[in-house]
Amino acid sequence: MHVLVTGGAGFIGSHVTVALAAAGHRVTVLDAGHPAAHRRPLPGTVAGQPVVRADVRDAAAVGRALAGVDAVVHQAALVGPGVDLDDLPEYVGCNDLGTAVLLAAMARAGVHRLVLASSMVVYGEGAYACPAHGPVAPAPRPVADLAAGRFEPGCPACGAPLAPGLVTEDARLDPRSGYAATKVAQEHLTAVWARRTGGSVAALRYHNVYGPGMPRDTPYSGVAAIFRSALEAGTAPRVFEDGGQRRDFVHVRDVAAANVAALASTARSAGWRAYNVASGVATTVGGMAAALARAMDGPEPVVTGEFRLGDVRHVLASPARAEAELGFRAAVGLDGGMAEFARAALRA
Ligand code: UD1
Repeated sequence: MHVLVTGGAGFIGSHVTVALAAAGHRVTVLDAGHPAAHRRPLPGTVAGQPVVRADVRDAAAVGRALAGVDAVVHQAALVGPGVDLDDLPEYVGCNDLGTAVLLAAMARAGVHRLVLASSMVVYGEGAYACPAHGPVAPAPRPVADLAAGRFEPGCPACGAPLAPGLVTEDARLDPRSGYAATKVAQEHLTAVWARRTGGSVAALRYHNVYGPGMPRDTPYSGVAAIFRSALEAGTAPRVFEDGGQRRDFVHVRDVAAANVAALASTARSAGWRAYNVASGVATTVGGMAAALARAMDGPEPVVTGEFRLGDVRHVLASPARAEAELGFRAAVGLDGGMAEFARAALRA
């Protein structure tokens, strides 16, 4: 199959391109070389597949790149917390206007299969249960609580401590950042497109991705890259809150494998379907910092008690749907993955 991979020269996109090429697909990479993700000129090829330098908002360039293409794997996006609200127009431009331009061009070109890189940030907080009230959706944590070191969200009905559980794809969407809002909008836009065209979309909600080729520490980086960069510079990772916040760290090669499986699934049925892409293993941010520091023989992490507005406490995923419907199961364990990540090259 001939696949267009947008953002295919980026961290996740380049691993996706490698995996698609290894699975026998012909790939065209479309990448803008956005300065938030690329500090060096784009390569001419990724995994031997040609790179077209163009912004996904450029309708004419996207139209040309779609010639002869059977399916699109849409990875191009501006990610992460960003700097401040001045970033918002660029997030919406890259992620939502970009997706809209791509979808319109796909409809014109008669391309009906799409894999979308979405994110667990669409959920906001993960799943929680109150001993008295059952499953509940906690509100954003009040600043006064965070400042006082009360990091666990309480039950919205009675304030009792909550037990975190596994979030499933049917959970209510509750974006807590500008970036998260753009990912929700991408999901909705692609659902509209699928209904209007009869096309097929697999929306992959990536959990916390890490691995070789991750960008260095920037305002757009995830926590694994930030800790890796600190340790490389010989400084201790700075763990926010009390380090007990839980995430699911999933290796980038597993994410690439999920994309290959999701692409195959788009041939089987029309319509829109979301999938958690996760390892299924809960890790605290403090525990991840300690594992990486050990693997790099670096200074022990410092737990700072700092907090970021918009951060959620725990997001742990159920990987059951991706396993049942895509046959995807993460293969890289945290210890092995972190040991490799400790030595792997980061992006310049
Ligand atoms: C992250 C990414 C997001 C990505 C998603 C899924 C944000 C802010 N970041 O969400 O781009 O799509 O995973 O892959 O949306 N932390 C520290 N020290 C630091 C930096 C962060 O302790 O120097 C903590 C944060 O407070 C947070 C945790 O690490 O508790 C995870 O942070 P981060 O990776 O930025 O964000 P996520 O919300 O998990």
